[in-house]
Amino acid sequence: MPKTSKPKKDKGLVLVTGGAGFIGSHLVDGLLEAGYRVRVLDNLAPPTHNNQLPEWFNQKAEFMKGDVRNRADLEKAMTGTDYIFHLAAHMDYHMDFSTYFLTNTASTAMLYEIITSKKLPVKKIIVTSSQSVYGEGKYKCKKHGIIYMAPREEGQLKKREWEMKCPHDGSAMEPVPEFESDELRPQIPYGVSKMAAERTALLLGKIYSIPSVAVRYSIVHGPRQSFRNFYSGALRAFSIQSLSGQTLSVHEDGNQIRDFVNVKDVTSAHLKLLEDSRANYEAFNIGSGEITTVLDLAKLVAKATKTKYDPEIKGSYRLNTPRHQIMDISKLKKLGWKPKYTLKDNVDQYVGWVKQYPEAKEYLAKSQAALKKTKVVL
Ligand SMILES: NC(=O)c1ccc[n+]([C@@H]2O[C@H](COP(=O)([O-])OP(=O)(O)OC[C@H]3O[C@@H](n4cnc5c(N)ncnc54)[C@H](O)[C@@H]3O)[C@@H](O)[C@H]2O)c1
Repeated sequence: MPKTSKPKKDKGLVLVTGGAGFIGSHLVDGLLEAGYRVRVLDNLAPPTHNNQLPEWFNQKAEFMKGDVRNRADLEKAMTGTDYIFHLAAHMDYHMDFSTYFLTNTASTAMLYEIITSKKLPVKKIIVTSSQSVYGEGKYKCKKHGIIYMAPREEGQLKKREWEMKCPHDGSAMEPVPEFESDELRPQIPYGVSKMAAERTALLLGKIYSIPSVAVRYSIVHGPRQSFRNFYSGALRAFSIQSLSGQTLSVHEDGNQIRDFVNVKDVTSAHLKLLEDSRANYEAFNIGSGEITTVLDLAKLVAKATKTKYDPEIKGSYRLNTPRHQIMDISKLKKLGWKPKYTLKDNVDQYVGWVKQYPEAKEYLAKSQAALKKTKVVL
């Protein structure tokens, strides 16, 4: 790997933890293009990787193989850095609960511990959080107004009653958008670890005057999203099912609302937040701001793969998964950013890319079997 030699218009050295992954590798490209030098710390571990640097990793970046849970690795990677994007994370829902906190939360605290103890002149840290911090979020009842909702009980889901019901009178409720100022009510360990990580970053950033920003992505779409891991992300599963002649399997009734954002829009948002001091010490949603259902996504995948749109809706479900998630992105838009890509762009780009990896089909089968075995999908 080349060392991080200074380009002509040097804007400084940026460390991207998790920079060999999906969102991180696009961010690395964007930072290099914008004139930054880039160093990546990543452990290249499964389920995202197979212990090898992916072929699309930008050769202009410096790569360090290491673990964000290991202080020595983190210290080495942080030496000489001006800015840090902390993306390395343990994701989804697995039974090694403590790994969420060690990888996502303790590593965030360690960044600040190293900066303060070594007096490193880091100018800004951007930590990656997730829409998962909102949990089920808020819903509106015609009679009782806005209510923060708990996850649906298994009894309700077993009866295939998907929509949220008012806890006071059982009437149907409308989902409302999530704002950064909302109460955070994560409902899985991943979300709790991300909430703790962003709070740690904003708190320590403020105490020690280290400009810090927390970013909460919705569901990010784009090429390079690991075809080895199908735990989450309907686009990945739908694309592989469709390309391999299988029926698209849709959870619940497919009318769940989701927000899907293109990875290139996430990169442009990152650059904005890095370079705009008005973002300091704040949390931002990064999404498309569009209301889309899972069935809308399935239709576009069928179109992109030139297959018949005929999804299988068997009423399967996941516990502790929000019914609807709507993201408000006006806070970031006020800084002058806006998303450029449509859902169709996302689908076309992903399908076009993943076609090159026929082995993805085997990973999907393994993943589906594991989700059933561990009772994540019921
Ligand atoms: N993809 C999404 O839709 C989405 C949504 C919300 C938040 N996020 C967050 O975005 C970030 C990037 O996610 P992604 O989708 O690119 O996932 P990814 O798996 O493609 O990338 C994560 C990277 O982190 C690395 N990593 C994991 N544990 C590590 C460790 N202990 N030490 C060093 N490196 C480690 C992985 O090898 C991988 O390259 C994560 O923080 C994730 O929680 C993603």
